[in-house]
Amino acid sequence: MSDVIHLDTDTTSYIFDVLPTGQVSSLYYGARLRHMEDYSPLRQKNDVGYGTMVNISQAHKTIGLDDQCLEYSGLGKGDYRESAIELVYADGSRTTDFRHVSSKRYRGRPDIETLPSALGGEGEVETTELLLRDEAKSLSLILYYCVYASHDVITRFAKLANESGESVRVRRLMSAQLDLFGGDYRFVTFDGAWAYERERHDKTLHPGVYVNDSKTGNSSHRHNPFVMLVGTDCGEWSGEAWAMNLVYSGSHAQICERTYQGKTRLLSGINPSGFEWLLMSGESFSTPEAVLSYSSRGLNAISRNMHRFVQDFIVRGEWRDRERPILVNNWEATDFDFDRRKLLALAKEAAALGIELFVLDDGWFGKRDDDTSSLGDWKANEKKLPGGIEGLVPKINALGMKFGLWVEPEMISEDSELYRAHPDWAVATPDRAPAYGRNQFVLDLCMPEVRAWLVETMTGVFSQGNLEYVKWDMNRHISDAYSKALPPERQGEFHHRYILGLYEVLAELVRRFPKILFESCASGGNRFDLGMLCYMPQIWTSDDTDAYARLTIQGGTSYGYPQSVMGAHVSASPNMQTLRASTIETRFNVAAFGLLGYELDLTMLSHFDKRAIREQIEFYKAHRRLLQFGRFLRVPVTMDEKKTTWAVVAEDGKTAIAGLFQGSAKVGLGQDLLKVPGLDTDVAYRVTGRKQYINVRAFGGLVNKILPIKIRGDGVLHSVLSSYYMFAMADEAYVANGDLVSAYGIKLIQQFSGTGYNDRVRILSDYGSRLYLFEARE
Ligand code: DGJ
Repeated sequence: MSDVIHLDTDTTSYIFDVLPTGQVSSLYYGARLRHMEDYSPLRQKNDVGYGTMVNISQAHKTIGLDDQCLEYSGLGKGDYRESAIELVYADGSRTTDFRHVSSKRYRGRPDIETLPSALGGEGEVETTELLLRDEAKSLSLILYYCVYASHDVITRFAKLANESGESVRVRRLMSAQLDLFGGDYRFVTFDGAWAYERERHDKTLHPGVYVNDSKTGNSSHRHNPFVMLVGTDCGEWSGEAWAMNLVYSGSHAQICERTYQGKTRLLSGINPSGFEWLLMSGESFSTPEAVLSYSSRGLNAISRNMHRFVQDFIVRGEWRDRERPILVNNWEATDFDFDRRKLLALAKEAAALGIELFVLDDGWFGKRDDDTSSLGDWKANEKKLPGGIEGLVPKINALGMKFGLWVEPEMISEDSELYRAHPDWAVATPDRAPAYGRNQFVLDLCMPEVRAWLVETMTGVFSQGNLEYVKWDMNRHISDAYSKALPPERQGEFHHRYILGLYEVLAELVRRFPKILFESCASGGNRFDLGMLCYMPQIWTSDDTDAYARLTIQGGTSYGYPQSVMGAHVSASPNMQTLRASTIETRFNVAAFGLLGYELDLTMLSHFDKRAIREQIEFYKAHRRLLQFGRFLRVPVTMDEKKTTWAVVAEDGKTAIAGLFQGSAKVGLGQDLLKVPGLDTDVAYRVTGRKQYINVRAFGGLVNKILPIKIRGDGVLHSVLSSYYMFAMADEAYVANGDLVSAYGIKLIQQFSGTGYNDRVRILSDYGSRLYLFEARE
């Protein structure tokens, strides 16, 4: 039938056609299929109706929309599942009936007005547009499908155009709807809270509705917009998975419904909760873009598709493909308590260790000595920083480091010059005092004058000397949603307009400062999404810098996002958030699978830590491209599921780095198998453990059994030794063929288990870890 549209990527096909009743029906999204003369094997058979079925037309009595796989469903014509669109017309009615009119295909892709969208030129993407009409109401709906064949990604968005002569209230307009013919799936979501973001959760679908959403005004740490539907037997290396992400930073929803008949629907878009957009005649409304991918080869494959897509088509600008500098950030070192002397002391240590960028965090402006004041007063505190930022930057540059600055531009403190001058700029509902979050209010970015002020003020801040990096923070959820700039009938537009306002500001600043490396942040990872990544090439992953917690946080994040966008820092031990102690080596080994930074008081380091850090930095610099841009893999550990293995593999498969991480140590579980799929199977590899050190303090009284000495455990000598003696972990070196390592793994030397120590014993203990470098032998 001529209405069939069969889209192909390198390994997937997406097929739909038009029902006899005019709705666009989904036929297939899965492994790539040959084009067919006759698509009827893929069509649902509708030869008899079923009880309670509502049929849209008497000419097609056996077609009920409720049990069809559809591309974009409406309300009021017999599909009782969650709908993609919900409108209220001027007459108060709500029934929608969009039917297929025409389609067109062209190379390239359109931008989305007012919203960020994926990149892609004519050589990289092909677009199919479907035009649907609701004739009775003179509305058009265009569904866009942008096919990125070489990345196995299809993006979707929708545009509603009102030609009716009357206004329409849009209550829901989702970016994409994916209907699958089948119900045995798990709905995989990435959930969390402050300092515990994006932990993976799998929900086995039963009949019912599952909602993954944010109502906070930002994409939030509660539920990330990246979700997956996976087959019940899907694992990291095999099985079917459908992934969906959203290029959007505001309140979003992913609504998944499994019907009793065994069909599954996944919707993604702006959160309909609280949303209402008044669409005047002659206007159109576009949704954010959804990013879809399918793989039959498991979760690592789908992550790979998403990673490549983010790297090539979401992140943009000067820094897209550039190796990112190793930074030091003063936040966990000093909090608000610093002055120029302290900062320069920290910077001096950092420079000596090989760190490349110094980041001055919160507390440099106004009279901000804690979090109760000054947001909005973006002038340096001369008491802390005589000569201001302009005086500080050359001193940092003179040490051979770049300089970067923290800002939180979207916020206003009640105790600020800005608030005293413009109390009406803070978001608040009429007749109510606004709620506080971290003692602060949110600036109303729906107001054009606020946006203009923000652009000019930040232009001033970013022009203070040689500023090469900016951390753009945002530390509270939005409450009291209401804008004085909007009439009552448009208050349902607040959250979306806030984000549009933010995007407008970011677009302008990025245009004005194309060379600055921006890092997005929102109390850590409270706004970790593809929308922000269109402006800022990296995001602070979490305020939890504990290495062991980061395995879950960075690991969860890695399903949808590459390590090249994840800020990951080595901080103090015991950790500031968890009080968990972990070694300087493990803290590095985890952070090495991200954009490395150090966030601890480097002026207080022992000789041992300094030497270890210097070597870590050398290692990271030597392998930075691989660590930041290599193919990231999660390797399930078959011997002990509590252990974690991550790997990064170079594009040509000739080099790789793997990290083996353990939770609590267990005697008897010391035999580890190190597997790294994706290596070149025809090549032999030299495998070496990164040179790591153990602080002999870890041995307590056992130190006498490990070293050929006699000292009192925890005595003065032990303490001196622990600061100066670089006790090296067992040298590990193996030679192994790529097919063996990819398919099975290397049996590593034994772990310490209390029955003896020699230089062939690996010491990991609690939260221990080791990195291994794989290099193809010539
Ligand atoms: C939250 C961020 O995530 C931290 O890294 C730090 O910048 C603080 N805000 C400063 O207030």
